[in-house]
Amino acid sequence: MDLQELAASVEHGPAITGNNATVQPVRTSDGGAAMLRIDPKSEFFASELLTLTLWDGDGAVQVYDHDAADRVMLLERLDHTRNLESVPVEEGAAIAGQLRSRLSRPASDGLRTMEALAERWTEELARDQIVPRHLLDAAVGICRELGPGANRFLVNSDQHYQNVLAGDREPWLVIDPHVFAGDREFGLATLLWGRLGEATPQRILDILIDVEDLDAAKAQAWTFVDAVAKWVSQPQGRWAKDCATIAHELLPARPILGF
Ligand SMILES: Nc1ncnc2c1ncn2[C@@H]1O[C@H](COP(=O)(O)OP(=O)(O)O)[C@@H](O)[C@H]1O
Ligand SMILES: [Mg+2]
Repeated sequence: MDLQELAASVEHGPAITGNNATVQPVRTSDGGAAMLRIDPKSEFFASELLTLTLWDGDGAVQVYDHDAADRVMLLERLDHTRNLESVPVEEGAAIAGQLRSRLSRPASDGLRTMEALAERWTEELARDQIVPRHLLDAAVGICRELGPGANRFLVNSDQHYQNVLAGDREPWLVIDPHVFAGDREFGLATLLWGRLGEATPQRILDILIDVEDLDAAKAQAWTFVDAVAKWVSQPQGRWAKDCATIAHELLPARPILGF
């Protein structure tokens, strides 16, 4: 990609700063609206590019061009002022679930696996001294039980409400995927902690299980583990409080497991 040429076409208007990326409105050489997304540090850049290229605009933002060395993508421009948070929570969860189902497919080789993630979590959670022991033990038990036999579907762990933007081609399109090869029942937790207070964790989970036709016990188990792992990684503040709420509500009764 010729960055100098693109720099000349930068539009007035502020760049958007996300958690990792900076996104600047630009015009393509034929005058079309686009977004230049620069992501200097994220460990997800390569897998994100691979995934968006694979999806090819079908339910997700289209990649027009990229420069892997500079960690830049030229993306279709969506409406950054309107994401799925603007939709009532139950409808928003249902739309998010429909998109997850549409974007699910067998994972290509080379992606990080949930088996490896579960191994990492097993070590990290076993060492933790802050989260209540019975929750850590339950989460470690699930990682040991489900990690080794996890499926190899392409699954997005970061499809929260702010990562689904309104578009022209389709009402809603996914941006910013962080993907693993794993169970389809993984990656739901972000849709629970994203709207806590508007609906109970169990209600949102039930909507997603229904819309995506998921194994209910597995979805509950992975979502519980995800909440415990986030609590361990962010033991203070809002995340800790929200993840504690989710973990306590979703702690599986032992007989549920038995996959
Ligand atoms: N294609 C796009 N069109 C319009 N706005 C976008 C686009 N991609 C990203 N944005 C805006 O930039 C923000 C940050 O981009 P994102 O890809 O989500 O990076 P981060 O990893 O920092 O969250 C988004 O929340 C959204 O507001
Ligand atoms: Mg984002």
